[in-house]
Amino acid sequence: MKYHIATFGCQGNERDSEMIAGILEKKGYKATENINDADVILFNTCCVREKAENKVFSRIGKLKELKEKNPNLIIGICGCMVQQEKMIERVRHRTPYVDLIFGTHNIHELTKLLDNIREQKKAQYHVLNDSENIVEGLPSKRQFSYKALVNITYGCNNFCTYCIVPYVRGREKSRKPEYILEEVRELANDGVVEVMLLGQNVNSYGKDLSEKVSFAQLLKEVNKIPGLARIRYMTSHPKDFSDELIQSILESEKVCRHFHLPVQAGSSRILKLMNRIYTREQYLELVAKIRNAFPEASLTTDIIVGFPGETEEDFSQTLDLVQRVRYDSAFTFKYSPRTGTPAATMDNQVPEPVKKERLQRLMDVQNKISLDINKSLQGKVLPVLVEGSSKGEANMLTGRTETNKVVLFPGSPELTGKIVNVEITTPQTWILKGEIKENNM
Ligand code: 5AD
Ligand code: SF4
Repeated sequence: MKYHIATFGCQGNERDSEMIAGILEKKGYKATENINDADVILFNTCCVREKAENKVFSRIGKLKELKEKNPNLIIGICGCMVQQEKMIERVRHRTPYVDLIFGTHNIHELTKLLDNIREQKKAQYHVLNDSENIVEGLPSKRQFSYKALVNITYGCNNFCTYCIVPYVRGREKSRKPEYILEEVRELANDGVVEVMLLGQNVNSYGKDLSEKVSFAQLLKEVNKIPGLARIRYMTSHPKDFSDELIQSILESEKVCRHFHLPVQAGSSRILKLMNRIYTREQYLELVAKIRNAFPEASLTTDIIVGFPGETEEDFSQTLDLVQRVRYDSAFTFKYSPRTGTPAATMDNQVPEPVKKERLQRLMDVQNKISLDINKSLQGKVLPVLVEGSSKGEANMLTGRTETNKVVLFPGSPELTGKIVNVEITTPQTWILKGEIKENNM
């Protein structure tokens, strides 16, 4: 029996897919890259923007024929998309041949659900809105041998007015520090050199635990674990980026000098409508503090254009902020209304062509800055964690700098998982091209 998982969305979903794969492998299933070859096909979905959802429906639509040819094939949908109200009805209507729907709080029930489908010859739909406790100890099949995702919190309490996540992922819950540290220790023992600590808002880690522990304290503990070389985290909310955290990163040499600080908008008026809690000025102050403490750090962000009510003046403040901060790179999005969120019913929705045009202008400004910053790295020798062969180019490897920039350079795939020194020879907007320097570590 073979399974195929298609994962959409963020690293939270990537990690869930590793656990789903672990559960299936424990049941005796083997993974296959070839969807036509699979006995179980699962779509682990995202619903943060409409585009992500449409992609899933279109992919499942293409499976109708496969299912007609092979009635024993199990097609399942899980992840954030199915956590939305009325989604089960929509899936049943659009793709009635889907056999399995399970939510983000039902992953541990997968084995039982698959058995039920086979035994009862009946589709299974199990979606819980939220869960009281975190299920620990699920099996997992990790995607990489040298880097790993580690959940530290689940869910979100922030309720930014554009965002569906708090509705689909439930209330914020922290994993106990001992579970996290134990997991990271095991990973390091198995040869993992980089961990990414995951949460919707890692800075509020621990606030819900009976024994209070902060994200800053957790980082210091993770930093002590032998064998690890790099610690990353995702995502931190600017409103909670404390001085204690800056201090803790200063004291933790393994924590990467890369700050991903989603700003979302450059106008305080829009930030207020978004319920982001900080103003433009407070954000810029935080950036100044970080730059001051870590002059060598890279800064990246997420920005939404065309939030309801965004005027040309508001948007020009976003452009101005981007020019002031000079991000290394930015993920930029057109606002996508999500049913059930406050922003979806706000007045003055911005027309699509305006969103499109603003997105393009924003990307033009940011790309120029990215190229400028990358050009300043010309001739520098940087430690790069090798991630493997490049998909596009034979004999080329890709890897990442501590600052999370992608580097492309000639080399042997045996270096995968190693940190090598690479001289940057041809910096570009999104990647740095380079060559391995002799006398590598
Ligand atoms: N429309 C567009 N972008 C969104 N994001 C979250 N919700 C929406 C939405 N409704 C973006 C934010 C967030 C990133 C993960 O996705 O920028 O930081
Ligand atoms: Fe991740 Fe949010 Fe998308 Fe869910 S909806 S996969 S939490 S980005």
